[in-house]
Amino acid sequence: MPKFAHIVGWGKYMPETILTNKDMEGIVDTTDEWIRTRTGIEERRIASREESTSTLAINAARQALTVANIDPLKLDLIIVATTTPDYAFPSTACLVQDALGAAHAAAYDLSAACSGFIYALSMARDTIVAGSNRHVLVIGAEIFSRIIDWKDRNTCVLFGDGAGAVLLTASEIPGGVLATSLGADGSGADLLIIPGGGSRNPASQETVAENLHTVRMNGREVFRFATRVMTRASKEVAEAAHILLEDIELVIPHQANARIIESAAKSLKMADDRVYSNLKRYGNTSAASIPIALCEAIEENRIHPGDHLILVGFGGGLTWGAALVQWEVSIPLTPLPRWKRIWYSLRFRWARVESFFRRAWRWMEGLPRTPMGQTRFLWFKARDGLNKAGKGISKTGKGVAKKAEKAGKGIAEKAGLSQSGEKEE
Ligand code: UT7
Repeated sequence: MPKFAHIVGWGKYMPETILTNKDMEGIVDTTDEWIRTRTGIEERRIASREESTSTLAINAARQALTVANIDPLKLDLIIVATTTPDYAFPSTACLVQDALGAAHAAAYDLSAACSGFIYALSMARDTIVAGSNRHVLVIGAEIFSRIIDWKDRNTCVLFGDGAGAVLLTASEIPGGVLATSLGADGSGADLLIIPGGGSRNPASQETVAENLHTVRMNGREVFRFATRVMTRASKEVAEAAHILLEDIELVIPHQANARIIESAAKSLKMADDRVYSNLKRYGNTSAASIPIALCEAIEENRIHPGDHLILVGFGGGLTWGAALVQWEVSIPLTPLPRWKRIWYSLRFRWARVESFFRRAWRWMEGLPRTPMGQTRFLWFKARDGLNKAGKGISKTGKGVAKKAEKAGKGIAEKAGLSQSGEKEE
């Protein structure tokens, strides 16, 4: 039975609009200098009106699946860590599942604020190690710009929008997510909170008038808590995995404040080049910050096979968590072949068509019988026909993909190339 959960795919999506510190000066009483020196943030991304947390998550997830070269039908589980779901319910994970065409996957959201990604990674790893799942997609996605008070300078300068995703796969090869360590302290629940909109203070004219649907934060207290738990969680997870802190090649911390990251690095006795940060470009993207940073560390060639990484975060709840990853996957030097990328893009479009048909079937099943008693019968006939046609198209598609793969391999063999595009010795 496979005992290890490896990260084999990764992807991120950042909205296009950039809001700089200079722009923030026009919104609240702040300065670029204050934001840079107190937080390390220079700019952040803001989602457009057409975007929602699920659309960000879907884009990141598609990339992760394409990198892993795994069909969405193989997914067993999708977990979306988010504090800003599209709706209270259904879960954002279900919207992602539908858009990907991951018809065999269970899906749920996980709420642990900025620690959400580490919590989700831990759950995903455990289900794989227990043998319940083979392929699990873990996403951190947030649109914090929709839940902050744009008049509160204490919070609005800190946060940004974005999404990151990783695909975990079961393997017998030692490595992957070796250990995780999670914690919570609910006595600090009020330090970082959105007081309105839940069952305690349901949405009403009063809650809107009092602006209870936006983030309230005691920055100083959260700061003190963060510096404490980042070190503690990192040490605990290293101990659980039997890896010395000296043997950690890279720490990828939650990107909230450069001073918190520096303080953790100092108490872990890690030099700056062993701690990754992209905070200045994106601000705090909450549950999305660690997977986005992981993707960028990969893009910047900071991670290599055999490396040991600590991913560590903290957030509202209060919550915290760390994961120790032994990276075993070689990062492709060349992107996937063009035909394969086209194949995945068609695959994701087909998922939309499938979703349309599923909605259409549901509508048809709800149709009343006509006096002739024929309507439903005819609809079901049509459905069966389309189902058969769909299966036929899918079969043909798979056939074409197999043939193209064979042909590609043949050409590569003739040219003496490995699959990744490298010249074989
Ligand atoms: O993912 C978890 C999410 N949260 C966090 O990670 C937050 C952790 N905390 C922090 O990062 C820091 O506490 C902050 C960046 C929020 C604040 O930095 P600080 O050095 O702790 O500042 P402070 O709270 O001690 O406030 C210093 C002063 C205050 O003025 P007074 O009361 O001393 O006159 C604030 O009103 O800075 C003022 N201030 C600002 N000034 C200009 C607060 N925000 C701003 C601002 N621009 N944007």
